[in-house]
Amino acid sequence: TKSGNGNPKENAGYKAAEYVRDGMIVGLGTGSTVAFTMDRLAERIKGGLRITGVPTSIQTAMKARERGIPLASLDDVSQIDLTIDGADQIDPSLMLIKGRGAAQVRERCVADASKRLIIVADSSKLCDQLSGPVPVEVIPFALGHVTRKLEQMGGVVVVRDGVKKDGPVLSDNGNIILDYHSGPIKDPQALESEINNIPGVVGCGIMAEFSDIMTVIVGENDDCRIL
Ligand code: A5P
Repeated sequence: TKSGNGNPKENAGYKAAEYVRDGMIVGLGTGSTVAFTMDRLAERIKGGLRITGVPTSIQTAMKARERGIPLASLDDVSQIDLTIDGADQIDPSLMLIKGRGAAQVRERCVADASKRLIIVADSSKLCDQLSGPVPVEVIPFALGHVTRKLEQMGGVVVVRDGVKKDGPVLSDNGNIILDYHSGPIKDPQALESEINNIPGVVGCGIMAEFSDIMTVIVGENDDCRIL
């Protein structure tokens, strides 16, 4: 697509909307790039497109409602045809780090229920090797326990603080977000399992298991690249 608007995120977000067909159940990811997809879907809905969106965060649900995109919860659908989501890091084998927006747990549920996953990003998200920080959602009860376990694994743990609020960020699920500064990640799949297996962890931001159903749309200034 040549759009020439000079906005890589907008180009990627708009391109992804082209993959949505009438009647689809569409997972709606979180972040500023997917917001452009929702802009385009809203235009198409005004033109007659019928879809049902399944939002991955309260923020996305609010943006979808503002744009008139009909919504259902994950409980209301048996399968999602296509999910369009953002990412924070993407490696050459399409393994991801997600969760800058603290939404990785719901994002993983929605991706897992999906037949197909499109990741939209600008080229700043591409990397040769994932390097963290890895967002980790933990139940408040287990904050100290999970922090000690992660430190024993060799990285540095930072409790994510709110920008507009004092104290820790609480996720949409009411949990605390840790940012685990792991350094370069040699084996993303292994680290994902290791973190997710710590009791008290609800889910981390490494997503190594979706490359089979995934397409990545990388927005450039005037164009998109498909990986
Ligand atoms: C949300 O928790 C993340 O997984 C997002 O998908 C990610 O932060 C992408 O955001 P942008 O599209 O704003 O870069």
